[in-house]
Amino acid sequence: MERTLILLKPDALQRGIAGKILTRFEDKGLKVVGLKLMTMSPDLAATHYAAHKARPFYAGLVRFMTSSPIVALALEGNDAIAICRKMMGATFGNTAEPGTIRGDFGVSRSYNLIHGSDSAAAAERELGLFFPEGVVQWDYHAFRWIYDAEDELGG
Ligand code: RTP
Ligand code: MG
Repeated sequence: MERTLILLKPDALQRGIAGKILTRFEDKGLKVVGLKLMTMSPDLAATHYAAHKARPFYAGLVRFMTSSPIVALALEGNDAIAICRKMMGATFGNTAEPGTIRGDFGVSRSYNLIHGSDSAAAAERELGLFFPEGVVQWDYHAFRWIYDAEDELGG
């Protein structure tokens, strides 16, 4: 079981499609274990995107991410990190495949609607930044139907 951090970026909220994007993850069978509406501080944006500090787009990226509210999500499921990255699509909306979130909802290179952790180490670090208090534990009763738990078909 893995957890991943997803951010619905300011353009997702400004365009009123945050709910549609969350619905895709729920439909897929990912369990929501954290959900937070917040405005990112410049410090949090700088820490979150520290790996990109030397890149030419960095200043604009921090300005964009702090410009209006985001939704931070913690999602849980088997292979959650890879599944979410695949559902997001390639980084830029103009080249992301149709059927992916970025491919279906946008054309911009910078305003690309969504962030998702790209490795187990990144997920752990990023979940700690956005959910320092931890996530919400609850019984997800659909789990055994979604993940065909081993006893469902008689082993
Ligand atoms: P993310 O970290 O947000 O999930 O996106 P990603 O892995 O697909 O892309 P990454 O290379 O990590 O870039 C982080 C974010 O920076 C913005 N960006 N703009 N204008 C540009 O050339 C450019 N390159 C990157 C995007 O918002 C990208 O998601
Ligand atoms: Mg990235």
